[in-house]
Amino acid sequence: MEQADFIRDARRLVEVLDRVVVGYSVEKRVVLASLLANGHVLLEGPPGIAKTTLAKALARAFGLLDSRVSIGGVEYRGFSRIQFTPDLLPSDVTGSLVYNPVTREFEPRLGPIFAYIVLVDEVNRATPRTQSALLEAMQERQVTIGGRTYPLEDRKAGKFFAVLATQNPVEQEGTYPLPEAQLDRFITRVVFPYPRALEEEKSILRLHAQRLSEPLEDLESILDPKWLHAAQSFVAEQVAVQDDVLDYVSQLVRFTRPEVSATAREFFELGASPRAGIALLRVAKAWAMLEGRTVATRRDVDAVAFPVLNHRVIPKLDRVIEAEEAVGRYSARYEATRRGLEEIMKSIRAL
Ligand SMILES: Nc1ncnc2c1ncn2[C@@H]1O[C@H](COP(=O)(O)OP(=O)(O)O)[C@@H](O)[C@H]1O
Ligand SMILES: [Mg+2]
Repeated sequence: MEQADFIRDARRLVEVLDRVVVGYSVEKRVVLASLLANGHVLLEGPPGIAKTTLAKALARAFGLLDSRVSIGGVEYRGFSRIQFTPDLLPSDVTGSLVYNPVTREFEPRLGPIFAYIVLVDEVNRATPRTQSALLEAMQERQVTIGGRTYPLEDRKAGKFFAVLATQNPVEQEGTYPLPEAQLDRFITRVVFPYPRALEEEKSILRLHAQRLSEPLEDLESILDPKWLHAAQSFVAEQVAVQDDVLDYVSQLVRFTRPEVSATAREFFELGASPRAGIALLRVAKAWAMLEGRTVATRRDVDAVAFPVLNHRVIPKLDRVIEAEEAVGRYSARYEATRRGLEEIMKSIRAL
């Protein structure tokens, strides 16, 4: 495939999402950029704002919503949804050996993680053991059951693996918040606020006004699942980064660290790791591709800095409290982080 084909197909993907999810123009493209960077995404926001719809629309676009695919004797679902609850066991996610009384042998029963797109709802409601099993599988892109290891991703066969996990930051009771070290496994944390404008609320209603079923049920598949790996390779290998972009990403990540910069000391308790820098570069390149370009610029880095970095830094408590007065308790942490990152970008521009 040619450059122009990838860019055109990526645009079609954006259009599909636009048809069923009103608003969230930046958020939707950040989710796509994350997948193009071969990452997993944490979707954060209250219930009822189209997180599930977004995940299912993606599955639809790849013709994966109700499909099953067998690769090398392993059966994968196109899409699976796992509701995390306190009684969920690691094996409910990954799978286990079950005894077959007919053959008198133990046989593997593959868990719902054996899918192309896995939607994990309320990831903070399962116990740390189950969360760890998920995060390990996400990281390793494979699962071991009864001594045999199964791939979750198979680039030769075009079998991709993407986890979209949701959590509601408002309800904290009965949850097990993911520690920073585990949040780091998500390439982005995409924060979904309530719709931003009255017109958006109305457009959502209009979408539903004359029908009982979900609009996403009308979506056709537009791309083969194999496309995603090809597009990921295209972004990784063909989207260029000039040296000034590398300078910028290294400075940005470095200057979030309190031990390095005075601005960071004002805003953050903890700064971003080198892994965060790699993620920032990858997502910025994918963002450039979604914008129809094959060269990533500083502006692409700026565009994705918040979703890539917000869950990897810890804002200072007094900044969070300060932000509470302006935006309320629910958004204060994001706001404090956003302000800190903006100040750091400004300080780099002034160098
Ligand atoms: N921005 C939006 N655009 C289109 N539909 C929306 C939007 N927000 C909510 N909805 C509709 O509201 C319902 C709840 O959406 P859902 O995806 O289940 O939310 P969540 O997973 O965030 O709880 C669905 O019928 C969905 O179509
Ligand atoms: Mg949902």
